[in-house]
Amino acid sequence: MKKLELKTTVEIYEHFSKLPEIDRQLCEAAIEARKGAYAIYSNFLVGSSILLDNGLITSGSNQENAVYPLGLCAERVAIFAASHQYPKSKMLKIAVSTSMEEPPQQLPAFPCGSCRQAIREQEVRFDQPIELFVIGHDGKVCKVPSITSILPFSFDKSSLG
Ligand code: THU
Repeated sequence: MKKLELKTTVEIYEHFSKLPEIDRQLCEAAIEARKGAYAIYSNFLVGSSILLDNGLITSGSNQENAVYPLGLCAERVAIFAASHQYPKSKMLKIAVSTSMEEPPQQLPAFPCGSCRQAIREQEVRFDQPIELFVIGHDGKVCKVPSITSILPFSFDKSSLG
């Protein structure tokens, strides 16, 4: 029997204003993107922004539907739009901002499993880790160096044989 142990390190900053300029801009874009959320069923507003290797920051927000499962998370709205508009550009960093008001000491809401998988697809596609910034309502931010840190043993094209 062999044992495989994984270690995940998440950097926590009290406020995104403590981050370098480009990361700060990315976080501000994710917060701004929440304004585009169509979330009349959950009232949970989510914004997501992406820094591309062409220097542009694109964004998306969650879009819900009366047929609940049809709704889509902000991260995937942002990823699919960026992939469509700039198919040759690598995604370097992704930020996500939610309207969750976390109690003190706790962490902001992290991307769901499906969005983690969608981010992983872009890492594999461009052979490049994507930094993730998860922003809390008070500006606290968690930085993850690659989605693999929070999606270990992920399924990707190599799994298809
Ligand atoms: N949501 C996101 O936009 N991103 C996530 O990672 C988790 C959840 C959205 C989906 C739905 O519109 C609302 O938040 C409540 O689940």
